[in-house]
Amino acid sequence: MRTFSLTTTVIEYASLDELNQNERRLVLDARRAREEAYAPYSNFLVGAALLLEDGTTILGANQENASYGMTACAERTAIWRAWLQGHARAILGIAITGGMRDEHLEPPPEQRQPIRPCGACRQVLSEAGFRARRSLFVLLDSRGGVLYRLDDVESLLPLSFDPRTLGVEPG
Ligand code: THU
Repeated sequence: MRTFSLTTTVIEYASLDELNQNERRLVLDARRAREEAYAPYSNFLVGAALLLEDGTTILGANQENASYGMTACAERTAIWRAWLQGHARAILGIAITGGMRDEHLEPPPEQRQPIRPCGACRQVLSEAGFRARRSLFVLLDSRGGVLYRLDDVESLLPLSFDPRTLGVEPG
């Protein structure tokens, strides 16, 4: 028997000002995407922005449904949009932001925690990394408090079920 540890390294930025220009822009794009959320049931609005190799961004926002389980998260809408537009190989990373529609239900900005993507989105992000054939960076925004950066999706989903398990080379 042996025991081993899997570590997750998180870079914390005190504010948007500490990010480089590209990544700051990406977070602002995610915040802009959040305005397109359709979330009348949870009133929790999430935005995501993918950065592509050519510097362009692809946006997503959560899309809810009266049949709650049909809801699509922001991250997945952005990734599916990118894939459908033929950009699977060009994705470099993602910025995600979220929070209640009613600002009064949120802590003051400086006390907010960065959003944590749900398990299903971590799984799809993992696949997006395999399709892109690179480690995707992940920026998690708190809309006013600290931000987190992970240099790869593996940190968010260790021991993942992935294409290697099936002996498949993702297209
Ligand atoms: N949501 C996302 O869009 N992404 C996540 O990673 C977590 C949750 C959405 C789904 C639902 O519309 C709302 O947030 C509340 O769960």
